[in-house]
Amino acid sequence: CVIGIDLGTSAVKALLADWSGDVLAEVSRSYPIFHEHSGWSEQQPDDWVAGTLEALRELVETANISADSIEGISFSGQMHGLVLLDEAGNPVRNAILWNDTRTTAECREIEQRLGDKLLAITRNPALEGFTLPKLLWVRKHEPSVFAQASLFLLPKDYVRYRLTGALHMDFSDAAGTLLLDVASKTWSADILAAMELSAAICPPLVASHDYVGTLLPEQAERTGLSPATRVFAGGADNACGAIGAGILQEGLTMCSIGTSGVILTCEQDSDSDYAGKVHFFNHGKEEAYYAMGVTLAAGYSLSWFKETFAKEASFQELLAGVESVAPGSNGLLFTPYLVGERTPHADAVIRGSFVGIDGSHERVHFARAVMEGITFSLNESLDIFRRSGKRIGTIVSIGGGAQNPVWLQMQADVFNAEIVALEHEQGPGLGAAMLAALGCGWFESLEDCANAFVKRASLYKPQPEAVAAYAGLFRIYQQVYEQTRELNE
Ligand code: XUL
Repeated sequence: CVIGIDLGTSAVKALLADWSGDVLAEVSRSYPIFHEHSGWSEQQPDDWVAGTLEALRELVETANISADSIEGISFSGQMHGLVLLDEAGNPVRNAILWNDTRTTAECREIEQRLGDKLLAITRNPALEGFTLPKLLWVRKHEPSVFAQASLFLLPKDYVRYRLTGALHMDFSDAAGTLLLDVASKTWSADILAAMELSAAICPPLVASHDYVGTLLPEQAERTGLSPATRVFAGGADNACGAIGAGILQEGLTMCSIGTSGVILTCEQDSDSDYAGKVHFFNHGKEEAYYAMGVTLAAGYSLSWFKETFAKEASFQELLAGVESVAPGSNGLLFTPYLVGERTPHADAVIRGSFVGIDGSHERVHFARAVMEGITFSLNESLDIFRRSGKRIGTIVSIGGGAQNPVWLQMQADVFNAEIVALEHEQGPGLGAAMLAALGCGWFESLEDCANAFVKRASLYKPQPEAVAAYAGLFRIYQQVYEQTRELNE
């Protein structure tokens, strides 16, 4: 067997998969997120480590198999989060996460110092969520903390380091730092020099399926795993989500709705960067890339709605009855800009809205409007791909948004595309397990592994009437952004 660990924003999930990709056991542990000020988002790196160790221990106990039969472990992780370590390898402060938007001034500084070079080297513009602006923020606002830092890592790299003692970062995650030369897969000396950063702060780079070591004896003991268990680097959660959904060739597209939402296409050519309108990163598959648009508050919008207005209800109860509300939620429209928006607006300041509230609306209309607003936001990313001439065929849907048949049909109707749902969909954790399976030599390639692991279950076709209704509503949705901008400026 192999283990895939998905270090998410709300929880860490660990799953155990066998040779045929069947998931034998799965456990998760949640951890807190701190929003000290509006737009700030932090977590304690050691909460991730504690959660991961507990999840692994429970996984080994639940699976009830011999530890020796677990051959390898790999990781998927929330992207972009800054973890700064001192000489002794301890975090010098909380991690600043991907959905933290405090760094607008640092983004402007990066643009000013690098100009067109930034897009040419990193294939991406400076956005608040990426790692480099966070490094500059700490240097400027917490100089004494920055002075203690000798190396930076991304979230899953820190957890892997604590499990193995080895310091690494893989290309797919490094691409989201704004410090990687995406085409040559090396740290960019030009960017480091322009930002007056020492190259020593960057960890050694590896490929996602590269072997990086075995478990430290004390961690093996704490988890019940064998100290001989081999550990492979792993990748960014969106890269791993794509691997777990079989998005490994040019022309394949994925929709992922987790805390964030993503529309992602696999790209073979390092030059097809869409002029920075969507993100462009190295894939977890070697010599491949992916482009994606990101909705910052996708599942997060629904969790916020539940926490605020239906705390006692389960998600199932919250969404009960949404199928009986017609597309358009009886005139109620939601924009999911709870923490600003990445694609297409790159706007850290904008905030969300409900528009068109009627006295007859009930909670179920609001719940459906939230689902629709998230899907409209993702459709803006799809729109960028389509306008740039990209042909969008069937879209594989993963994450929380793929657990609900009403939402899957909604995706087909809003995107006007066929949507595929997977059997026992496991999100990025399965992609991580596939990287471990490849690393262990079970398969020649990720494609071979996907043939065994990725199982398509059902197809949702666009329904012409709903497609037409949503096309009209999408135009109104797009106008709400401009009309509400001044509210929060
Ligand atoms: C991608 C992004 C999010 C996180 C979520 O650029 O910021 O999708 O990876 O974990």
